[in-house]
Amino acid sequence: MSQRETWTSRVGFILAAVGSAVGLGNIWRFPYMSAENGGAAFLVVYLIAVALIGLPAILAEFVIGRETKKNVVDAFRNLGGPVAALIGVLGLFTGFWMLSYYSVVGGWVIQYVIGSLSGAYFADPGMYFGQVSEGTGTILFHAIFMAITIGIVAAGVEKGIEVGTKIMVPSIAILMIGMAAWAFTLDGAGAGYDYFLTADFGVIAENYQSIIPDAVGQALFSLSLGMGAMITYASYLDGDDNLLGDGISITVLNTFVGVLAGFVVFPLLFAQSIDPGSAGAGAVFVSLAQAFAELPAGGIIGFVFFLVLLIAALSSAISLLEVVVSYFVDNFDVSRPILTTGIGVMIFLLGVPSALNINTFTMFDNIASNILLPLGVTLTVIFVGWIYGGGAVAELRRGLGKNSSFGPVWLWHIRIVVFAAVLGTLALSIMTFMS
Ligand code: PFF
Ligand code: NA
Repeated sequence: MSQRETWTSRVGFILAAVGSAVGLGNIWRFPYMSAENGGAAFLVVYLIAVALIGLPAILAEFVIGRETKKNVVDAFRNLGGPVAALIGVLGLFTGFWMLSYYSVVGGWVIQYVIGSLSGAYFADPGMYFGQVSEGTGTILFHAIFMAITIGIVAAGVEKGIEVGTKIMVPSIAILMIGMAAWAFTLDGAGAGYDYFLTADFGVIAENYQSIIPDAVGQALFSLSLGMGAMITYASYLDGDDNLLGDGISITVLNTFVGVLAGFVVFPLLFAQSIDPGSAGAGAVFVSLAQAFAELPAGGIIGFVFFLVLLIAALSSAISLLEVVVSYFVDNFDVSRPILTTGIGVMIFLLGVPSALNINTFTMFDNIASNILLPLGVTLTVIFVGWIYGGGAVAELRRGLGKNSSFGPVWLWHIRIVVFAAVLGTLALSIMTFMS
């Protein structure tokens, strides 16, 4: 079997991980989650959740990956035996499941990129979304999105994922900064900033039972945690970099793009007097399209916006596919392009029902975001806290110094704070899901 690939540089790893993190979650999900949870109050709780839960949890995945240098299933098996390997199997399943509908949204976005240029949604954005989101056309663009994802992953860790994300991530950052600067010039943008940035702490006090789990859930989703993407990417590391430094860079960059997205979306909606509270999954596409349709040169602006969304979705989709592909490449003597294509086609087929019916799509997303991911994080945290334990601290300290006190503090923080938060989120999510 050929030698396992590694990143060519530390920056390559960081950009790949940022590419995974920055995705539909930042630009599409984060603004509507904020809108559903009262705007700025949500931002505050989200930022706390990223620092207190997201960052320690991403480090937990990094140490597992870097120490074992294995795919998610074999990584857990190496460190914890056959029962622990089941956490990895859950990760594979989640990657498979999530990509099936994530790619459907990717297909919607391709249609919006084209529709911005042709003006297809200008007359009736609501009707356009209906056409884009269900039917044979939806299946076709889902197939196109999957084909591009397969192409990048088939090219390998270095030549596909690393090269791809080195181009994609800087493009996302530059275009988003440009969009935010442009949004700043809109008449009426001020109301958007107020909404996004002026926290009403009364709202938090009243709605903490929904705001806190939503914010923790969004932090996990946004950082690609709970299904082994970060384990897989860290498994391609060699050397003794400071993982804490890498984790901070990735977390900060991901948060930066999420906040920038808010700086684009809210001024845009408020400038056109569109109520962000009427958001929800599809309505973000509808209300943004409505805003673009009403603006002078809105087609061009819409084109750039949806292009950024497309690049972000792609750089996340490749990490979902890589989780599954990595397992098969490590264990079977079949070439990466063949394995990638086979797995990709199966994921495409699983996504077809979501492409035909938006309620099926919503169900797939709810199961993944509210159950599979929080469950994966909870199990990972228990595993790292109590089974891997001291080994995890030693691995983290490889880049920090042998006696760094951060290691044990991190471990106890995982055992208590992160564990309580993710378990609480999981419990509340399951209750909401059942009701
Ligand atoms: N972090 C991605 C986003 O915010 O859109 C979603 C995601 C990608 C979650 C990859 C999990 C994952 F493994
Ligand atoms: Na994200």
